[in-house]
Amino acid sequence: MAYEKLENVKVEIRDRVMVLSVDRPKVLNALNAQTVEEIGRVFAEARDDQNVGAVVVTGGGEKSFVAGADINELAQKSPITGKETSERGQQILSSIERFPKPVIAAINGFALGGGCELAMACHMRIAAENAQIGLPEVTLGIIPGYGGTQRMARLLGKAKALEMICTGDRINAAEADRIGLVNKVVPAGQAVAAAEELARKIMSRSPVAVRAAIEAVNSGLDMPFEAGQFLEATLFGLLCASEDMKEGMKAFLEKRPAKFPGK
Ligand code: COA
Repeated sequence: MAYEKLENVKVEIRDRVMVLSVDRPKVLNALNAQTVEEIGRVFAEARDDQNVGAVVVTGGGEKSFVAGADINELAQKSPITGKETSERGQQILSSIERFPKPVIAAINGFALGGGCELAMACHMRIAAENAQIGLPEVTLGIIPGYGGTQRMARLLGKAKALEMICTGDRINAAEADRIGLVNKVVPAGQAVAAAEELARKIMSRSPVAVRAAIEAVNSGLDMPFEAGQFLEATLFGLLCASEDMKEGMKAFLEKRPAKFPGK
């Protein structure tokens, strides 16, 4: 079981919400290669785990979500190993973005560099008031390498993304909320609870519809508009064959809450 052989990541499943904590508090949860692999293994296993209906990603300790890639490791990279590291991080973060169940980042402090990229790969982000978010790579002579240049430009638009990436400045939770980088800001210490609450609301909806929605939005953003609409219509049609659709419509007509079988 992947969940059992983890050193740098803690996993707790509470009533079908998995809380994944990156847990290297001494280095503010910086992502070394082993931690990135452990995150990848947990998501690979959770994908088909019926006990997991949603994932909340957070950082261990009070101070930090993830303070970036581990600079001790990065300092040793050659052009070849640097490219490999970037590609591996990209693959694992893409597997989070394409995860078929909702993934919510609970940003409980610093989300810098790879930490900001990890949060952006999640489907939604809840920030605690004390969150500090940024992509400081240019202050180290590199650029974001885990999909950050692509995801931030898609999330914020080109000008704001270039400002964040080229200055390397950190922004606080209120500013992140204002520019649409996070979905919501909550008091310090409450990010995980708020993310769990959001996860539970989404889990009460049709799982097959939520899965199709994630797929339509993710894939659609990489397609021309008409191709995205074609995908939407195809998924819409597919859902009309689902048990969830029958139950959802029946429950509405019978004026009772739906109990989705997730099929
Ligand atoms: N990689 C490796 N170690 C890191 C780290 C990282 N990304 N971020 C923090 N740490 C370590 C620090 O070296 C320090 O270790 P030490 O106790 O052995 O000296 C420890 O974590 C605590 O960090 P510290 O800098 O003392 O805390 P702070 O509250 O003064 O500052 C930050 C917090 C996040 C602003 C600061 O640690 C920082 O700028 N980190 C790097 C962020 C970054 O550039 N990330 C992108 C990498 S691509």
